[in-house]
Amino acid sequence: MRSTIAEIDTVKLRHNFHHIRSLAPGDAIMPMVKANAYGHGIVECSRILSAEGAEFLGVAFASEGVLLRENGISVPIVVMTPPEQNEASDFCEYNLQAVACSLESMKLLSNEAVAQNKTLQYHLYIDTGLSRDGILPDEALDFMNAASTFTNCEAIGICTHFATSDESDTTFSETQLKSFNQVINRLKHSGYEFEFIHAANTAGIAHLPEAKFSLVRPGISMYGCAPTYELEAMLTLEPILTLKTAVLSLRRLPTGTSVSYGRRYYTDRISTIVTIPIGYGDGYMRALTGKAECLIQGKRYPIVGTICMDECMVDIGDDEISCGDEVILIGKQGDECITVGQIAEKCDTIPYEILTAISARVPRVYT
Ligand SMILES: Cc1ncc(COP(=O)(O)O)c(C=O)c1O
Repeated sequence: MRSTIAEIDTVKLRHNFHHIRSLAPGDAIMPMVKANAYGHGIVECSRILSAEGAEFLGVAFASEGVLLRENGISVPIVVMTPPEQNEASDFCEYNLQAVACSLESMKLLSNEAVAQNKTLQYHLYIDTGLSRDGILPDEALDFMNAASTFTNCEAIGICTHFATSDESDTTFSETQLKSFNQVINRLKHSGYEFEFIHAANTAGIAHLPEAKFSLVRPGISMYGCAPTYELEAMLTLEPILTLKTAVLSLRRLPTGTSVSYGRRYYTDRISTIVTIPIGYGDGYMRALTGKAECLIQGKRYPIVGTICMDECMVDIGDDEISCGDEVILIGKQGDECITVGQIAEKCDTIPYEILTAISARVPRVYT
């Protein structure tokens, strides 16, 4: 195995799950394991989370649900994006729950469920303001009146998703919640009730108490990160991923030597330049060029020159290190720590993108 790995701490994954559980006591939990469990390995993380008692798992596409079923995961799985036409047979065959976002797709699912002699369970998705997926609040009653005539389909949940739940100004989230509650009440008066009502992602769980209905959908918090620094302070999370590699080679270079493609970095003294076997082909973003750091022997060093596809270089000056020494790109070493949040800031993006970008070439190792 190559030395570049993403080490996943399963004890911390369990800790994060139970911490979030403690913030929504009495609620069912649907950890979001889409996008390869935010880069952490969908099958392994799902096994652990379901063993810890997660009542549901949330994915984005039917193919992710199929992968889980093929690996023996039996808890209810909800596909949280609208079903695509060619996914209908997978929904029924693999017992995946859908979000209801259009009558056309529900009709297709119903027909397929009849053909396979199965019951398709679904969650009515209300678009309260994200303008991405779901039924508009004013159309929800007509929708249910029509959808409830479809055979072999059972509505077990109703949900929405926030547009700005990670912002400290909760005004728009409250508007969305008001609209969601109105729909729930209107449907209730017409005889439509749902066992599972859900809206809260990590941010909602952290600071929107009214968003915790009977089910919550935490994603990033399972993996020990928060959407913002402000929310991080409200949660007790343990980052579960360490991205590490090892020193591949060292060379002593004279003053004024250029390093890497485009000659963006020159040594300003005689210096030791270390090469490490990780690059943007592993998801270590090229946008980090000139900004990234790593940890070697508990000390922070600059990654210098353009980040290549498979390698990058570190200027360690006159320090003594050896081939094979551990290099941390994300995580702790000694008293130093590089967080996903810090890297996201440097790339002008969010922790989600940094984590999900770690490519399939990087083996995930579970401890
Ligand atoms: C529909 C839905 N629910 C829940 C989540 C989890 O959000 P977070 O990772 O911020 O907790 C996501 C993530 O994007 C989502 O798309």
